[in-house]
Amino acid sequence: MGLFSRKTSQTLLPIRHFIAVIFIFTIILLIVFKVEDISNDTKTVIGHNLQPTPWHIFPVREFKNETRLARTSRIVKCSYLSCLTSSSNGEATFTSEAETCPEFYRWIYHDLEPWAKSRVSYDSLMEAKKFASLRVVIISGRLYVEYYYDCVQSRALFTVWGLLQLLKRYPGSIPDVDIMFDCMDRPIVDKKDHTAMPLPIFRYCTTPDHFDIPFPDWSFWGWVEVNLGPWQEEFKSIKKGSKVTSWDKKFPYAYWKGNPNVLSPIREKLLLCNDTNKWGAQIMRQNWALEIAQGFKNSKLSNQCNHRYKIYAEGYAWSVSLKYILACGSLPLIINPKYEDFFGRGLFPKENYLPISPKNICPSIKTAVEWGNSHPAEAEAIGKAVQDYMEQLSIDRVYDYMYHLITEYAKLQDFKPVRPPAALEECVDSLICYADETQRGFLERSAASPSSTPPCKLPPPNVEMIKKQIEAKNAILNKSELII
Ligand SMILES: *[C@@H]1O[C@H](CO)[C@@H](O)[C@H](O)[C@H]1NC(C)=O
Ligand SMILES: *[C@@H]1O[C@H](CO)[C@@H](O)[C@H](O)[C@H]1NC(C)=O
Ligand SMILES: *[C@@H]1O[C@H](CO)[C@@H](O)[C@H](O)[C@H]1NC(C)=O
Repeated sequence: MGLFSRKTSQTLLPIRHFIAVIFIFTIILLIVFKVEDISNDTKTVIGHNLQPTPWHIFPVREFKNETRLARTSRIVKCSYLSCLTSSSNGEATFTSEAETCPEFYRWIYHDLEPWAKSRVSYDSLMEAKKFASLRVVIISGRLYVEYYYDCVQSRALFTVWGLLQLLKRYPGSIPDVDIMFDCMDRPIVDKKDHTAMPLPIFRYCTTPDHFDIPFPDWSFWGWVEVNLGPWQEEFKSIKKGSKVTSWDKKFPYAYWKGNPNVLSPIREKLLLCNDTNKWGAQIMRQNWALEIAQGFKNSKLSNQCNHRYKIYAEGYAWSVSLKYILACGSLPLIINPKYEDFFGRGLFPKENYLPISPKNICPSIKTAVEWGNSHPAEAEAIGKAVQDYMEQLSIDRVYDYMYHLITEYAKLQDFKPVRPPAALEECVDSLICYADETQRGFLERSAASPSSTPPCKLPPPNVEMIKKQIEAKNAILNKSELII
């Protein structure tokens, strides 16, 4: 009997073990498959499971280096676990008085005017979704993002980072808001096609013919791919570089350095002006592949302020280069742009820059350079004033612009924003988790801290004033066969 019972327990135990092991194994397998499912479905800030925007195609992103397991665990860790412990930012405590915002902040009302009466309805937002690469929803100071399409390079990462820094800078002050955002270059909501229902979509630039709402671009926090640091660092070093040579020692001709191969007819035409004697211009090709290979030795912006005149030529759409060009303290020669970013609209021709006719680029440059060389004090004064304009546009002011635009936009929503089911929370940790080592360095350098000053005071709406400015500007630009 004793023998029998011993025998039973000896054989039964392994069977029970075996069943338990199978059971646990099945559970693990189910979890693994489920987790894999999740990671194959989860769209991320660095582009996992996302296709390029159909309206601006670029190569599909590949994650060649990651094994399936590494990828799955990264997505679970970064997208689902990073923000669990993040606390809310609390409330702001301001210890000093607010300043007044720069005049050009009035453009916020101008940009939002299409919704001033009709307001932003949920329907118009859902229509705008067709043109959005991502959707940003802020609820009680927390940020949720729904990704629809991939954005080139690290635009999404740095744009979302900028929004998180805004929340950190003004804790408890950002209203609940639901925003459709496109991270690609060109405005898309043509006024002609959408008069009945203007669609609200944020992007980095607009034109007078579009409803698109301009918002500060990613490069204010850094553009890793071309080694441009956060705006506050770049401005400081460019300003320093601009002082190395005095005005009379600066080269007495106009300079442009950039990438002409961006499907920009203006830049292609500009190449033809490359003759300092004939046209007073030097046009240099920026070879990014070479620069990347050589560690960005020759692309330092602070070494590019040795000319009395700097040319701005827009690219495929607006160009982030505008702010660096204006920071140089040289006299800007701006080839009349089609696309406008949020701050460039505050500039006035002949006061802040000399306009160059896109129809007549080389002769216009020549005239401008000749004028400047025969009026050195005036030319230098314009350059200096523009540099001051850019100094005023500190990163703090950039946050203020975001603050006011978002706040004014939120007032127009005629629905209460809620977290969309498919949106994931993003927080500092989730972005740091996804960033590679270089990106992480850039993100950390551009981190904001809570402000002791409230956002600058937005001047009251004056839509008439903006309209008059636009007319006055057009009157000058339309005449500018030759400019002065
Ligand atoms: C991919 O892996 C290789 C070899 O491990 C490494 O040298 C390289 O830097 C990695 N590339 C990226 C983009 O992580
Ligand atoms: C413009 O001319 C300079 C000097 O002649 C030359 O070094 C440069 O490569 C030219 N730029 C382009 C885009 O060809
Ligand atoms: C200037 O030209 C623009 C575009 O061609 C036009 O819409 C505008 O009415 C013109 N303005 C003036 C003052 O001539």
